Amino acid sequence: MTLCAGVMGFPISHSMSPRLHGYWIKKYALDASYQAFEVRPEELMSKISSLIERENLPKDARFRGCNLTIPLKEIIIDQIDELEDAAKIIGAVNTVIIGDEGQLIGRNTDWIGFTDSLAERVDLNRFKSSKALVLGAGGAARGIIYALEKSGFSKIYLTNRTLLRAEALAKEFSQFPIEVIRWEDRAKNLGNIDLLVNTTSLGMSGQQRLEMPLEGLQKEAVVTDIVYSPLETELLKSAKERGHITIDGLGMLLHQAKAGFEAWFGTRPEVDTNLRAYVLEGLGQK
Ligand code: ATR
Repeated sequence: MTLCAGVMGFPISHSMSPRLHGYWIKKYALDASYQAFEVRPEELMSKISSLIERENLPKDARFRGCNLTIPLKEIIIDQIDELEDAAKIIGAVNTVIIGDEGQLIGRNTDWIGFTDSLAERVDLNRFKSSKALVLGAGGAARGIIYALEKSGFSKIYLTNRTLLRAEALAKEFSQFPIEVIRWEDRAKNLGNIDLLVNTTSLGMSGQQRLEMPLEGLQKEAVVTDIVYSPLETELLKSAKERGHITIDGLGMLLHQAKAGFEAWFGTRPEVDTNLRAYVLEGLGQK
């Protein structure tokens, strides 16, 4: 029996997920497939149902679930039978698993991807009772804030160009230790920050620059960016020059994929340097 999964979105041709999962399927020699499905929001549920019913799938194939891209990861929430806690709080399902009774299980693994990517480079124990500064209050920030709280941060400073959006997020996450600061003040008081995270799209190829002076940031502070194209953003480059540990956005992309792969195909995959190089090659950045 061939186990099938895939990523759904519109557009979807730029997704690295088929390459990433394809690498693991080959590495672990599994009878499995992972493909990209071009799916518009209004087609999402009928597409999932038809795959569960094995329409357009080989006779011996079974659909195990899928990854979802924006905006599908938010749209699907109301249709999920078993929504896991993290997905509920974050408000997004990036991984759907088809349960034994055909029910839809909704999971968020973006926050796990961020945590595991961080843990690859630093001992997370050092962040117990630490302070983080999060740039951006969009969809990506939600998973990051959840991950930071789970890692034991006792203070999360949140700043966003649109102040109201940061305030709304802080209100929604009222059980989290968030303090909103103005975008104009983002580079002030960096002295007590242990981790800086950019969750905005600034610094991505084709987007505007991120203006983030790092003067005052203590040398031990870790600087991370969720942008992975380019791999070394200006933020990471200037942080590296100042001697900070820097963590690029590719690790989050790779690590978020592990939980889905394991749930669908039954093998716990590993993120290794060859996978990283292979996905980078796909991004045209080797
Ligand atoms: P995602 O779901 O990927 O996080 P998003 O919800 O559109 O995408 O959020 C993009 C983030 O980048 C937001 O924090 C956005 O700030 P606003 O809420 O003020 O729009 C931030 N961003 C995008 N362009 C920006 C710019 N030119 N300057 C500052 N922040 C910007």
